[in-house]
Amino acid sequence: MIISGKDLAKRIKSDIAAQVPGLTEKYGRAPHLVVILVGEDPGSVSYVTGKARDCEEVGFKNTTLRYPDTISEEELLDVVRQLNDDDDVDGVLVQLPLPKHISEAKVIETIAKEKDVDGFHPLNVAALWQKQPCLLPCTPKGIIRMLDEAGVDIEGKNAVVIGRSNIVGLPVSKLLLDRNATVTITHSRTRNLGDVTSKADILVVAIGRPKFVTADMVGEGAAVIDVGVNRDPETGKLCGDVDYEACKDKASVITPVPGGVGPMTRACLMENTLECYLNKFANK
Ligand code: GUN
Repeated sequence: MIISGKDLAKRIKSDIAAQVPGLTEKYGRAPHLVVILVGEDPGSVSYVTGKARDCEEVGFKNTTLRYPDTISEEELLDVVRQLNDDDDVDGVLVQLPLPKHISEAKVIETIAKEKDVDGFHPLNVAALWQKQPCLLPCTPKGIIRMLDEAGVDIEGKNAVVIGRSNIVGLPVSKLLLDRNATVTITHSRTRNLGDVTSKADILVVAIGRPKFVTADMVGEGAAVIDVGVNRDPETGKLCGDVDYEACKDKASVITPVPGGVGPMTRACLMENTLECYLNKFANK
């Protein structure tokens, strides 16, 4: 079975869209997400364009601020601080990666915790690991939703995550752990990786290498979640971290690339923006 992130994302977004007119009337304005893009990396441009499209679809106000990669760290931090102070802004997202002369850590910690729709602020990360209320990072949140949607039971299962990034590997491991999976975090230097991954009931792959996971690394009946977005070096087409054609018959459920995790990340971003807006107006 293929888990269509696209279809599930569409449903999540139409649920949000249905609420926006009533909320706008009640609180005097629609939710507002500001996305900052530094430079012109084609991957980042495409992510940011997708986010803007989703905002339009659900009826949010969206502002995309674009800066050349010559912007200084201090100038960028000032932009973020101004957005923090702006009462008409609910969510602030700085697209990563940033140019080397700008500290991503500094930028992330400057975003107000209440507007941190990515869930990357150290206080949000700490809250997640301490089981406190927090904004959940979008990709991990989307992955759990997809597993639930596909009817994959997480409790007691053997989950293996390939990748240990702050954006995906670590937080998705924590969310799986919170659902009572037994979680193994692996990476490019894990010895005998295939022996570990082939025993997984749930395999989440976020390593950023085209077709890294081959059929022999997937156990019969596993649920396979592919977070990769890469270019196939042979065809130039978009492809995941999993060799989809080779693995799809072994997996019980599998996510495609494109149309899998990507749309779900953006749907969860819309949810997080709504959450920030409601925290400001409704829940205070
Ligand atoms: N770059 C790749 N993924 C992400 C993400 O989820 N958020 C941000 N801000 N940048 C990214």
